[in-house]
Amino acid sequence: MTRMLDGREKTADRLLKSSANKFYDPEVDIDWAAPLPEGKPYELEHRCSLYGTHLWDQLTPEQRIELGKHEIASIASNGIFFEVLLMQLLLKDIYRGDPTSRHVQYALTEIADECRHSTMFARMVERFDAPPYGPVKIVHQLGKLLPVLGYGPALYGSILVAEEVLDRLQRESMADENVQPLVRMVNRIHVLEEARHVTFAREEVTRGMAKLSKTELYYQRWLIASVSFAITRSLINPRVYASVGLRPKEAWETAMANPHFQETMRWAGERIVAFLDEAGLVGAPGMRMWRRSFLVAK
Ligand SMILES: [Fe+2]
Ligand SMILES: [Fe+2]
Repeated sequence: MTRMLDGREKTADRLLKSSANKFYDPEVDIDWAAPLPEGKPYELEHRCSLYGTHLWDQLTPEQRIELGKHEIASIASNGIFFEVLLMQLLLKDIYRGDPTSRHVQYALTEIADECRHSTMFARMVERFDAPPYGPVKIVHQLGKLLPVLGYGPALYGSILVAEEVLDRLQRESMADENVQPLVRMVNRIHVLEEARHVTFAREEVTRGMAKLSKTELYYQRWLIASVSFAITRSLINPRVYASVGLRPKEAWETAMANPHFQETMRWAGERIVAFLDEAGLVGAPGMRMWRRSFLVAK
């Protein structure tokens, strides 16, 4: 049967073809037994949450590398948390959708990508011998509500915030030859496959916005601002600082007040926030949350 494809179906059709042509299997494409060369950073120094603070000055070069390793483990395990939530959201769409449509089939394909990514992030954390930090307990609990309460463009928009913030950090790290080869390879695989997800979700946001009533718009703006706040505040779990003998609470508060870290978040979210702003999702009543997420400058 040949069917007429509308805009949404056309995009999904193109993404399905691209997914079939270009994907990685981290199980075989990554050499998990390769040594982790000593002295090479896991995270770019200027992206470390404490960079430029008095606590940073107290750390030895070895401790800085160690902290960077734990921050990457925290970001990767939060990546798993976000991807697991995203998969639930996609499943909701699949549950009520037409499985013979291209966009439902693409949603299934995206879940397959995310399954491989989450396994890959988990293997990397395991290889680092670091704890699977994930988000703090309260965020982990609140996360359960998202697939129940969330709907509409703010949901796809929230997915984009998580994906695009990580994307920008990962692109910068994979381009630097000094970074640990394992981290660079994981980032390269993720960046390549996420580009399709971003295309799909951006179109869903634009389509969803066109259908919103005024009251719904406020709810959607509040929802995406709250989720974005949770995302940027969760990436670095306070427990990472214990790996270099710092007090977690004090170090985390120092990091959140660190202008370098705030600027890293603003820079990482620059492109997606501009897109969401243009779509009409960045506005009252969410502005205080946006500023506190560091994604929108004070
Ligand atoms: Fe992913
Ligand atoms: Fe994704």
